Parts: sequence; structure tokens; C-alpha cells
Amino acid sequence: MTQPLIPIDQCPIQIEDDRTGTNVETLKRAFADNLFYLQGKYESLATQDDFYMALAYTLRDRLLSRWLKTTKTYMEKDVKVVYYLSAEFLMGRHMGNSLINLHLYDRVRQAVEESGLDLDEILEHEPDPGLGNGGLGRLAACFVDSLATLEIPAVGYGIRYEFGIFTQAIRDGWQAEVPDKWLRFGNPWEIAHPDQAVEVKLGGHTEMYHNEKGEYKVRWIPANRVVGIPYDTPVPGYDTNTVNPLRLWRAEASDDFNFDAFNAGNYDGAVAEKMRSETISKVLYPNDNTPQGKQLRLEQQFFFVSCSLQDIIRTHLLRHPSLHNLHDTAAIQLNDTHPAVAIAEMMRLLMDEHEMDWNTAWRVTQKTFSYTNHTLLPEALEKWSVGLFEYLLPRHLEIIYEINRRFLEDVKRWYPGDDNLISRLSLIDESGEKYVRMANLACVGSHAVNGVAALHTQLLKQDTLRDFYRLWPGKFINKTNGVTPRRWILMCNPKLAELYNSKIGEGWLKDLSQLKQLEKYVDDPDFCQQWREIKLHNKRQLAQYIWEHNGIEVDPHSMFDIQVKRIHEYKRQHLNLLHIIALYNQIKQNPDQHIVPCTFIFGGKAAPGYFMAKLIIKLTNSVADVINHDPDVRGRLKIVFLNNFNVSLGQRIYPAADLSEQVSTAGKEASGTGNMKFAMNGAMTIGTLDGANIEIREEAGEENFFLFGLTAQEVADTKAKGYNPRDYYSSNPSLKAVIDRIAAGYFSHGDKELFKPLVDSLMYHDQYMLFADYQAYVDCHKQVSKTYSDQDKWTRMSILNALRMAKFSSDRTIREYCNEIWNVQPVPIEMEEYSQENA
Ligand code: GLC
Repeated sequence: MTQPLIPIDQCPIQIEDDRTGTNVETLKRAFADNLFYLQGKYESLATQDDFYMALAYTLRDRLLSRWLKTTKTYMEKDVKVVYYLSAEFLMGRHMGNSLINLHLYDRVRQAVEESGLDLDEILEHEPDPGLGNGGLGRLAACFVDSLATLEIPAVGYGIRYEFGIFTQAIRDGWQAEVPDKWLRFGNPWEIAHPDQAVEVKLGGHTEMYHNEKGEYKVRWIPANRVVGIPYDTPVPGYDTNTVNPLRLWRAEASDDFNFDAFNAGNYDGAVAEKMRSETISKVLYPNDNTPQGKQLRLEQQFFFVSCSLQDIIRTHLLRHPSLHNLHDTAAIQLNDTHPAVAIAEMMRLLMDEHEMDWNTAWRVTQKTFSYTNHTLLPEALEKWSVGLFEYLLPRHLEIIYEINRRFLEDVKRWYPGDDNLISRLSLIDESGEKYVRMANLACVGSHAVNGVAALHTQLLKQDTLRDFYRLWPGKFINKTNGVTPRRWILMCNPKLAELYNSKIGEGWLKDLSQLKQLEKYVDDPDFCQQWREIKLHNKRQLAQYIWEHNGIEVDPHSMFDIQVKRIHEYKRQHLNLLHIIALYNQIKQNPDQHIVPCTFIFGGKAAPGYFMAKLIIKLTNSVADVINHDPDVRGRLKIVFLNNFNVSLGQRIYPAADLSEQVSTAGKEASGTGNMKFAMNGAMTIGTLDGANIEIREEAGEENFFLFGLTAQEVADTKAKGYNPRDYYSSNPSLKAVIDRIAAGYFSHGDKELFKPLVDSLMYHDQYMLFADYQAYVDCHKQVSKTYSDQDKWTRMSILNALRMAKFSSDRTIREYCNEIWNVQPVPIEMEEYSQENA
């Protein structure tokens, strides 16, 4: 029997001491102590990294008493826990977040300053833990923040990638990928628990046997075993005692690994195999919305799923004699289909390892799991070839076949004779080479399926998952995304937070709807003035960053028009470029024409194998090169591509934006979350009726949103009628001039070949309908410029946007998941009172 590690009812640290105390003197002492004893340095010889590490340990110590108390409380009260399974957690830096959530910012700043150091410099030394690609991973990070803040018992489960998302360098205008060695200097935030390691099987075959009761059972004889070691990172709630774990698994070869080879003298062979097992958690696949279908990726998915489910079962069995009531203690959320193999693994664990019968196991599984879909792009729906599946997970393939057989029998009873329906619903795609359809598996095995914005859920119901919706309309539910206001307002925009605090106190940080009270200041000249000064301050800081990193001088008084997100054709960064080139053409035709000075800022990574996305980056930099150096433009247009967009850079960028570009083809962006971060920080949105843009516009008021473009329905209708982009090209002289300029090699030193693939793709396919939306977009930008020229009006709109974004706090999203999907309650964590001196 597994026992809890420490007798948790005897938690040894009950009182304030040098590892828990929070007054300035204690903090200073702890900081110096860690520098000496953990970093092994005298202050005079310490580097910024040493200071960062010493301070990080000082903060982690202060999280530990809350953390252990949280675990102890959950165990004692036998609470229901949310398990959030996600292949990605894009956490961003921990230190600033811990300072905020522990309410220690001011005291730590003072302690650090009194030690003769600069807190901001230390904060900059933290590597950005980039264990995610984009929106999906960042959503998981916002969710764990909200879960802890709302005092919900929760564990985030994922993979501790040794290399996170690559660092993006720009060489000669092209993206170059550099490995992200984020663990190089160690990771002070995590605690390894090798005592809780679990074993994961891979490959091999299955065989039947009789158990003691004489029943037929199946056992899996694997070809290979890997060990998963858990690393826990504390996730503190804001202004609560709750500290939940983010538990990430690292793969290691099992001890008895290839012992035979070793004994036979094949030492390097044994070591090579060992290294092979450890590659499972080596690197994050850098694809966003585009599955790659690599064997190692399926191994990663199964690895972290199996580790996590075994851990969940172990936890349950500490308090309960059987697994029949697992759904009473566990709600498991599948963040997209990446962990969907969990449905089959849960069935296997319950049946093969815990002797449960099929029907009971299936009931428990369905009641425990729920699934979030994040994409409508058909090519992004994951499927695995049956051959690969069988090779790696032979037992799971059998289970999936059996789930499918039973499921399709039901369907045949419900809808007799509809063979097309059967082949669409089947968990196996049999149209050519056979594939396992992971979204189908997730739908069948879960009790709830959700989309991430209202339009997205509606399109799932009527399109992508419509057959499942027809079977089980009650399973489908919308959960519009949200972002944490702690990181995305307080931490990234401290001046704005100060302004809010000065008017209404700090309650808005846990209840964003309180910002509505500030609407009465929208016509107050002082308030508006302060609002503008804050924006200008943030823009100056970004301008300084641009100067230091790109060597480009930008005017903080120009309009900052920003598009930062993954580079993808459906997100249409190139539509933005077409507009910029159109403005440039206007200036070239009429150099004295008045235009609102504008700084166009781009940022985002392209999947390394996505040629067109990389060509869009090259085009951006090429256009920037020409326009930024053209004397005719005289500083009225500036274009900047900020390399290596990540969470930390986002924290600098969102607060400095005037205009947020959210221009995806309607019906393609599931939700978007950058759109929310911009609006919360007072940027106006220019956008299509796509994803959460629709709801942002509803909340802000349509008069406070720059809308353009076809609706999702119009996109579908136009396509159905036979869309021909060349018609738009030949009938629109402005569009024609823009395309011709690119095609003529104007931005490529006369090279007409360089951008030809991009031009041809637009001229002959234009899958994402840039040409159809071009004129509406250009016209809408004219409206933007006109409005920006009236600063009073603009300020008013900006204020109303920021104040009306309460819906997009991830606290609201998480409350809905808790009530409508997970059925879990908050469990407050009580801590002993500390002495007055330390309070
Ligand atoms: C994916 C989607 C994006 C969504 C995010 C979080 O990245 O592409 O639209 O906001 O997931 O749900």
C-alpha cells in the first residue's frame, strides 16, 4: 500500500521563521542565506542569476507552508479535484506572479533594494518557461491561476519538456530557430518527487489469460517500459492561501532497462536505449493548430496521460476502497485531443489492472471525463494511423475497437440504415489508410464537450461535430475563454492597476465587473488625461525596447497598431501587410498627403516546417526594410517585427497598444485570447466577426469596435458559389497595385521569385479570402485613423473597452466549468494567524 509521504497532520512548520516570515528584515536575511547556502556565493562574486535564484528560493519557501497545508486539507476533507490534462502549459515567468499573489511585491522590493540590488533587473533574469505554442497552452496557464484563486482543488498535469518552444531569431529577415535551454541553470520553482514515479508501458502485444475467478482477462506484455518522474511547481492563488500543484512528468529509462544487453557487454547499446526513452520528454513539438503525426508525439501524449491517470487513481485509493466512485473525487478535463488517449487508458487501468467489468468501467470513465475542442480547422483534428497505434499501444487499439463496436451498434439502433452516418461517427476513419480519430474518441468518452467561444461552439454543433451533436445535444456546451487579470492587467500594466486601485480599491482583481463603477469617469477630463498618460508611458517603454532590440526609432505619439500571435495564414498577418503597402502606395503617389502617423508592430512564431508562414515573416521584414528607409515616408509609417514573441514580451506589448489586429477569416479562429488582453489594456479592436471578437464587441458596445469583413456564413456562401480571387484583383485598382508591387520584386531587390508562392497562393486559391475582405479592411482602417485623430473620442472608447471586459476574466470561465461541467466546490485553506509584526 502506498502511504502519504509525510504524516501530513503533523506539518512541522507552524510558526513564522526565516523560511516563512514576510517582514523586510526576515526577507533580507533569507535572501542572503540562500545566496550563501544554495548558490554558494559571496555577494561580491554573485551574478544576476545567483541573485535571481536566491530570491526565487526565498519565495518558494514562502509558498511551501501554504502548499503543504493545501494538500493536507484536500486529503483530510476528501474533496473532489479537477485534473486539467494538457500537453502544454505556457506559464510565463513565475517570480513576478508569486510576488503579486503573495502580496509581497513592495516588501521584497524594499528588501532587495536595501541589499543594494534592483528588483527589476532580477526579474528580467528569469527565463520564460515556454512549455506551449500559443493560445491553448496559455489558456491552461490562466486556468490554473484562476483555479487556485477561486480556491478550487486542482492539479495541472503535463510534460516537463527539457526544451520548450524554440527561441526565434531573425536572420536576413527569415525566422531561424534556436533551441530553448530553459533548464540550463536549474529551475528553482519545481520540486521533484522521484518517490512518486510511475511506470509507463509501450509497444509489445497482448494475451488472454484466466484470472483466479476463472474469468477471461487480457494482459499487455510491453516491449518497453519508461518511468515518469513528477516535478511539481506551486501555483498560488491571488489573495488566498490556496497553492495547487502543476505536476509535469519527465521520462527516464527504468532501472532494469535492457539489463541483458548491458550484461552481454553491449554497454553503448543499453545506454542508447536509455537515451531513447528519455527523449520522450525532451522537446515540445512547435506546431500550433497543425498536428504532425510523429511517433514520438503519440509517445509523449500517452506517456503523460498514463502517468497522470495512475497518479489520480493512486490518490483516490488512498481514501477509497474501490474505483467505482472515481467520478466523485475526480473531474478530468482533456485540453484538446492531445490527451484523448486517456479515455482508452482509463478503461485499461480500470479493467486490466483493477478488475472492473466493462460496463462499470465505461460508466465511470464517461462520468469522469470532459473534453474541450480548440479548433475548427479540419486539418488540425488529430488522427493516428492504426498501424502506429497498434505498434505502440496494442491494448488501447483493442479497447478503442470495442468502444467503437458498442457505440456503432447503438447508432445503428437509433438510426437504422444510415451507413454514411456510421462512417462519419466511427472512431476509425476507413476512407483510405485507417486512422484513429481522436476527437471522436474524446466525444464518445466524455460527458461534456465544449467550444471556447459562442460562435465556435455553434459551428462545432452545426458543422465539425454535428453528428455527435445530433446524438447527444445535451453534451455540448459553450465556455468562452478568459485570461487572468492578475498577469494581464496588474502585472503587465501596473500604472493602470494603480489608477483603478486609487478609485475603487483592489476588489476588481477578483471581481472584474467592479470596473464598471469607473464608467462614471469616462467624461472626467482628469481621469481621461491620466488614462492617456498611462498609455503614453507604456508606449514609451515599448519604444525603448524596440530601440534596444531592433535599432528602430519609433514615435510614441504615433498610433501603435499591433498584431501579435502565431503566424498562420488563417490569422491573416498578410492582410495587415496588404493594407500597409496600400498606405505606402498612397504616400508614394502623393508624398504630402496627411496620414495619421502609425507604427505597425508584428510578433509571432511560425511552425518551423510551415513554409508559407515563414515567408510571411520574411515579407514583413522586407516591407519594413523598404518602408522604414524610404525618405518619402518621413517617419509617418514604421514597421517593426519583434522577434521571439513570448509571454514576457506580451506583457510589454499589450499595455502599449492603441489598436489590436484581430483579423482572422470569420469561422476560423476558435476564440483568441490575445484579443481579450489587448482590450483589457485599453486597445481598440479592428476585427472580423470571429471567435471571441464577437463577444468582445457585444460587451464593449458596437460603437466601440472597428468591425469589417465577411461573416462566417458569408465566407461559406461565397466559397460555395465558387470564389475567384482574381475577380477582386482585376476590379480593385488599389489591391492590384499592392499585389503588383510585391510580385514585381519591389520588396525583394527585384527578385520576382521570392514572394511568388505567396502571391500565387493569393491569386489562385486565397483559401482565407484576403481579397474578399481587402476593401472592407482598408475602409475600416480609414475609420480608425479618423477616430484616432479625435483623441477625446478615442480615449473614451479606449476606457469603455477596458472597463467592460469583465466577461473575459478566466475567473468567470472557471466558475462556469466548475458549476456546469466539473461539479466542484471551493475549499478554503485556513492558515494559522501570524504575529502582527509579520502581517
Ligand atoms: C487555440 C485556438 C485559439 C484559442 C485557444 C484557446 O490556440 O486557435 O483560437 O483561443 O486555442 O482556446
